[in-house]
Amino acid sequence: MSIDRYYTLGKTGLKVSRFALGTMTFGKEWGWGNTKEEAQKIFDYYLDHGGNFVDTADLYTGGTSEEFIGDFMKERGNRDEIVLSTKFTFNTSKNNDVNGGGNSRKNIRRTLEESLKRLKTDYIDLYILHCWDQLTPVEEVMRTLNDLVTEGKIHHIGFSNVPAWYASRAQALAEAHNYEPISAFQLEYSMIQREIENEYIDLGQYTNAGIMAWSPLGGGLLSGKYKPGIDDQDDVEGRLKHITDNGGEVSSKDNERNWNIVKALHEVSEEINQPMASVALNWTANKNNVASVIIGATKMSQIEGNMKALDFDIPAELMKKLDDASEREIKYPYTFFQPEMQSRITPNVKTGHKPPNYWKDVRVG
Ligand SMILES: NC(=O)c1ccc[n+]([C@@H]2O[C@H](COP(=O)([O-])OP(=O)(O)OC[C@H]3O[C@@H](n4cnc5c(N)ncnc54)[C@H](OP(=O)(O)O)[C@@H]3O)[C@@H](O)[C@H]2O)c1
Repeated sequence: MSIDRYYTLGKTGLKVSRFALGTMTFGKEWGWGNTKEEAQKIFDYYLDHGGNFVDTADLYTGGTSEEFIGDFMKERGNRDEIVLSTKFTFNTSKNNDVNGGGNSRKNIRRTLEESLKRLKTDYIDLYILHCWDQLTPVEEVMRTLNDLVTEGKIHHIGFSNVPAWYASRAQALAEAHNYEPISAFQLEYSMIQREIENEYIDLGQYTNAGIMAWSPLGGGLLSGKYKPGIDDQDDVEGRLKHITDNGGEVSSKDNERNWNIVKALHEVSEEINQPMASVALNWTANKNNVASVIIGATKMSQIEGNMKALDFDIPAELMKKLDDASEREIKYPYTFFQPEMQSRITPNVKTGHKPPNYWKDVRVG
């Protein structure tokens, strides 16, 4: 088995594999995903090699991702062996109804019922708020999610893409009212996207929520197949090229910092004789407070390689090389929390994170 270690998710007894399976690519509706047959092979390979944590969303490929997973679980008869996470927030109503999106009680309850139907199950292990809607009071969100836990429809709660102050307030409410707390923050985290280091690593450690890292390869950029100037790469097969053609987000990835990261990653991968994608996944998985990294794959060869990315250690000096290459500009107010400024408050004191992997580490085999 490629994966034989599991972490407890946040302060729960739920054991999750250090790689979760991302299923945003299940279905061809978004232009860069898999057929059902290909998706099933990837799903089976992941589970057969020790993975137990499957991530989807009501929104993905217009519901097809959830449909596929429901069918695959039914066929394998293994629903209870899977830690299943899905998400709500984006508008999935037929007529773009004003209440058909968002984090209101009305929408959470509507969309959960639809997800359960597509997934052919009667409970979700980890139900995740997908994005802050800027409207719903956190009191309504937490009360609704806690009710669903009490009803047995969901077991645990996650938040994705919200301001840290909002998540922190949600955790404080949970503590004060004995609600089910947030066990996971699902956030983008890779060498090219390290902004969560400003707030979320500390917030997760302080409030016992693990990070689920999404887009650990920056959508494929860290696999090494792209070269500077993504637009011109007709010979490369990959989502980033496709998204660029459609005027998507990717031009923001085509910058000097990112290509320097790709160069350092290439050098490290040569030195330890591991694929670039594996080194990039290993980097994210071994960062402080990362509970699970969500890996995505559009091809069998990708999942086969990526599942081996925890089979080696990156030596400390090479980890530092990657850290240095991917260092980001620290902006206000975070400039005040850097060692130079802090030493003007408490001289000669070194502060640091708890060591990585401080969760209960569960090994099998
Ligand atoms: N909460 C959120 O807002 C949010 C947002 C985004 C994603 N997610 C979750 O995170 C999951 C992963 O996100 P992601 O797909 O963006 O992750 P990613 O790891 O950054 O990108 C995965 C993509 O990179 C390419 N790739 C993967 N392994 C490769 C390899 N070994 N060699 C070459 N190319 C490789 C494949 O695309 P190509 O073949 O097309 O190049 C693959 O689909 C999603 O499925 C979803 O579950 C959550």
